[in-house]
Amino acid sequence: MDIKKVLLSHGQDHILSVWQKAEGAQKTALERQIAQIDWDTLALRESVRPCGKIEPIAGFSVQDIAACKEEFAKIGTAAIREGKLAAVLLAGGQGTRLGSDKPKGAFNMGLTHDLPIFGLLMDRLKEVCSVCSAYVPLAVMTSGKNDEETRAFFKEHGYFGYPEEYIGFFVQDTAACVDFNGKLLLEEKNTIAGAPNGNGGWYSSLVRSGLLQEKVYRNVQWFNVFAVDNVLQNIADPVFLGATIASGCKTGAKVVKKTCPEERVGVLCLEDGVPRVVEYYELPPEMAFARDADGELSYRFGVILNYLFEKNKLEEIADKGIPVHVVEKKIPYCDESGERIVPKQPNGYKFETLILDLIALMGSCLPCEVVREREFAPVKNAQGVDSVETARALLIKNGVKL
Ligand code: UTP
Repeated sequence: MDIKKVLLSHGQDHILSVWQKAEGAQKTALERQIAQIDWDTLALRESVRPCGKIEPIAGFSVQDIAACKEEFAKIGTAAIREGKLAAVLLAGGQGTRLGSDKPKGAFNMGLTHDLPIFGLLMDRLKEVCSVCSAYVPLAVMTSGKNDEETRAFFKEHGYFGYPEEYIGFFVQDTAACVDFNGKLLLEEKNTIAGAPNGNGGWYSSLVRSGLLQEKVYRNVQWFNVFAVDNVLQNIADPVFLGATIASGCKTGAKVVKKTCPEERVGVLCLEDGVPRVVEYYELPPEMAFARDADGELSYRFGVILNYLFEKNKLEEIADKGIPVHVVEKKIPYCDESGERIVPKQPNGYKFETLILDLIALMGSCLPCEVVREREFAPVKNAQGVDSVETARALLIKNGVKL
């Protein structure tokens, strides 16, 4: 690759002079970074927005699920016993809103004893395994920024009592960041600033990692993909799995009823007849406030980042491009003198793909409503809404000793 030509043709003259001055291993590492840049993505300035006809989607309410609980549990439990389910923990995020520089899963929710989020999630998984008398393989997605620390955390905690051969780790990709003029930012003197590329690429990263070649994944047909930051996450739920399998849909989404029209949560809808998650800021107010004859919000199914994906369908859509979201962020960088600056205001763009966009590509999705107070306690912010405090209160309500 002609580094000089590539950099000049993309207006990155400032990186050219960094590269020309760099030496040895640092120069080679910088060249590797440049070779991996997706220049088309870097040129994007607007995220894709829904443009089709948006309509409400039908799904299973809490009552619908309760009415068929035994039947669904039977189907789901059988699938888990046959090794058809793997769990995927999305832990590659940076948790900027929480403001901790450790992996989010290492955050201690305990007040009188050690209760890291990872431990709470593993407890949930172990409960299901004991009910089903079978282990579910767990693949933990990390990022270049937290991989080592995450692996070390699991090891230090004895893998939370889960058999080690059932826990694997894989690293998601990193995408370069630019300032508002499209210039690559430097994270250190000879390193281009990069950030985890969002949670939408989990499957391609998982496949590339080779983890799926391991014995415990040989019968896997379904992936239960979930966020690290819901401390009440109900993982590998046999009822959810059974309901999704029985429905014939290629994906399932756990959803909660929105508390109010303004709630900042993505909503599962139909776009031109195909299930799609519409972000809260994309839903026009007349839709957000619309109500059915029974008084319920018409667009009420808020997603909680707990999905089921069928493996065959994932393979089928693997080559279809997933939309890239351009996000304005505060990106720490090194200025020309080599000084590290931590901006107080957004200073550039990060490029991310989102798992919610996979739903539309998969073509079908079963919304399964769950009881919010039992299954949804997100830890997003340091204070206020969806914070450590609100999540702790919900844990206590569910009988967890903090
Ligand atoms: P969020 O969208 O809340 O992002 O992630 P975040 O990075 O954790 O937090 P903020 O926005 O910086 O405050 C939802 C889920 O997706 C995972 C997160 O770890 C979390 O489980 N995620 C997010 C990834 O695995 N990789 C990413 O690149 C982004």
